[in-house]
Amino acid sequence: MNHQLELGYLVLEVPEPDTLNEVLGDVIGLLPGEPTASGAPTWRTDRRAHRLIVESGSTNDAVAVGFEAIDSEAFDRTVGRLQATGLAVVESTGEAEGRRVARLARTTAPWGTEVEIVLALADGPTPFSSALVPGGFLTNGVGLGHVVLATTAFEESAAFLTEGLGFGQSDWLEMEIAEDITLEVRFYHCNARHHTVALARAPFALPQVLHHVMFETNHRDDVGAAFDRLWASDLGIPNGLGRHDNDGMFSFYLHTPAGFQIEVGFGARVVTDSWAENRRYDRISAWGHQALR
Ligand SMILES: [Fe+2]
Repeated sequence: MNHQLELGYLVLEVPEPDTLNEVLGDVIGLLPGEPTASGAPTWRTDRRAHRLIVESGSTNDAVAVGFEAIDSEAFDRTVGRLQATGLAVVESTGEAEGRRVARLARTTAPWGTEVEIVLALADGPTPFSSALVPGGFLTNGVGLGHVVLATTAFEESAAFLTEGLGFGQSDWLEMEIAEDITLEVRFYHCNARHHTVALARAPFALPQVLHHVMFETNHRDDVGAAFDRLWASDLGIPNGLGRHDNDGMFSFYLHTPAGFQIEVGFGARVVTDSWAENRRYDRISAWGHQALR
């Protein structure tokens, strides 16, 4: 498995960034980072300066996905591979500073957000320690987590990931969810994490491209404690505790006030060099994940 990239950060744009403070800080247990130069709140999940940037605006969706290259060779190789597919990729020194990275090159993905290839995402001013998540989040060598994106530009997005970014397909999900309606999701890896990006085929343009972002904890109990905090809140619970069939993750999902969902999980399978399990699954979960509220 060719490890060149990790999910570095996600940039959200919502009308009122502060409406996410409760879910991100009090329920999931992320720590606030330093705001950006323009005053946008940021959130940390580990030693890095930021993993989520919440800008103020009307899009109400993810607006950029940052992929961190593991070294400068990987950065150049990724930019070159994207350019070889015919995409315009622009390196910007001015924007690199704003994202707290050493280098940044951007392009637009077929799913509609910006994609930023970056190098050397800075560390925060203090070590990461969350009282609500004592075991911390699993990010070392696998990045922030994963994002699941719903797009009508399904095949173009798949080609962007595999040919442009060099991702490998882990497996896929195809299941009939109603008469003549098939849910199709493809899962892609760029390191040992089972999937860093998954693509859902949208039958028509949906209000949001971002279906969910996933944070993985190091300890199973930290998922349970987060679920207790969710249960005590007023937030929606589209999926209670359960275990996914393909990546084996023990997790739950919540509805954020901005509409997109967040998954908190533990214990997913990892992709290995000899991965030979790129196959179809016909159910999302081995058990659980019922809609609760
Ligand atoms: Fe997920």
